[in-house]
Amino acid sequence: MAKTKVEFVCRECGSSHHQWAGQCLNCKSWNTLEEILLLQTAPSKSTILQDLPASKVQNLSDIKSENRVRLSTGLSELDRTLGGGLVDGSVVLIGGDPGIGKSTLILQAVASINQRHTTLYVSGEESADQISDRALRLSIKEDILLLSETHLEKIIKLAKTVQPKVIVIDSIQTMVTDGSTSVPGSVTQVRDCAAQLTQFAKQTNTILLMIGHVTKDGALAGPRILEHMVDTVLYFEGDAGGRYRIIRAVKNRFGAVNEISIFVMSEAGLQQVENPSAIFLSNSAKPSPGSMVMVMREATRPLMIEIQALVDTASGNPKRVCVGLEQNRLALQLAVLHKHSGIATHNQDVFVNVVGGIKMNETASDLVVMLAIMSSLRDKVIPKNWVAFGEVGLTGEVRSVYNSIERLSEAQKHGFKVAIIPKGNAPKKALKGLKIMPVEYLHQALQFMIENT
Ligand code: TYD
Ligand code: MG
Repeated sequence: MAKTKVEFVCRECGSSHHQWAGQCLNCKSWNTLEEILLLQTAPSKSTILQDLPASKVQNLSDIKSENRVRLSTGLSELDRTLGGGLVDGSVVLIGGDPGIGKSTLILQAVASINQRHTTLYVSGEESADQISDRALRLSIKEDILLLSETHLEKIIKLAKTVQPKVIVIDSIQTMVTDGSTSVPGSVTQVRDCAAQLTQFAKQTNTILLMIGHVTKDGALAGPRILEHMVDTVLYFEGDAGGRYRIIRAVKNRFGAVNEISIFVMSEAGLQQVENPSAIFLSNSAKPSPGSMVMVMREATRPLMIEIQALVDTASGNPKRVCVGLEQNRLALQLAVLHKHSGIATHNQDVFVNVVGGIKMNETASDLVVMLAIMSSLRDKVIPKNWVAFGEVGLTGEVRSVYNSIERLSEAQKHGFKVAIIPKGNAPKKALKGLKIMPVEYLHQALQFMIENT
């Protein structure tokens, strides 16, 4: 019996090794080697891209970017996240948990594009019947070209004949190419398929939308280099159980990063939420300890977000659990609380949650998280019409954040009455109905809260 051949491939850089090692010899990252099985048959090298037109040399000044039109997806919110629509020849990767709505969103977008241009929807996961069922549910009547196929060479061959404006690959993990020896879904297979598809898109000026699966910890399955190869990476966020779906651009060569758009999953597909500012505030009538609102401002739009903390006596090792925030950040915040304000939590379990399944990347959330922790620890109810934002440094100082005026006017617009903010962000002009509480150090904010609740 033939011996099975194994190889170890780095998730980060995609380089292969004959032996397992704790550290990748190429990119030096730790614990990223993944065992893959190689097929025994020798590959017939993929030659499908050979007859594409060669790229030509151009003068930079001859290229006029203002003439470049962006292709609208028919969903204005998605267009905004993409930086104004799809750019010709661009490659977009869409990642997210299973069942979150990736195929639904892309089918809706493709249906709209198909009214003006030819589109090709390739599914390696579902049969044409299943896609047609979904289209029926979304009341899509457009004649989209469907192909249920996983063999990359066949897909590119068809794409060369029909010359679509947009190709959808659902999902990249199901594709196989003749040029790779490893099993479908493995790191090298995914990398090789994505590389060939990207090359095809660039050379023929076709827009390529690739759907990608995510692993348990939320990263795209397959090598990280998948993210490096493409122009734009969109991620779905939000609780799978909840109605809201957040789409975030984590990388965008043609627009702002961290731009988000919000959709609601309904009976008839994803509907855009054009004015999402306050949808993540809980509507419980009775305020309770451990909850506070902040104004998040990522990319171009402010959002009111509720942060909840639960601090309770630990039985055994104290737990620190974060949902929607970075775990290390919480450790740092607890250390600052202890060192500079004498608030000890070493015998307490601390849980922090960002309501609505949003992922908070802003350090402006520090102050709110710490106030919420204090509120839960001391059983103090923070009034529902209070907001806060501000970064807290290691010396306990409250540092200013960007776009404070815009954050404050958003809070004012929603009827908030008190804003605890960094001193450096205090506005020169008073905002009607909103009391500003500027703080220089963390303990001032904590003291203000304890005294006024
Ligand atoms: P889907 O797009 O298949 O998810 P993904 O491609 O990310 O795996 O979406 C699947 C979920 O969305 C499924 O649980 C059903 C739900 N859904 C609706 O609620 N309404 C709809 O109109 C559609 C098409 C799907
Ligand atoms: Mg799907």
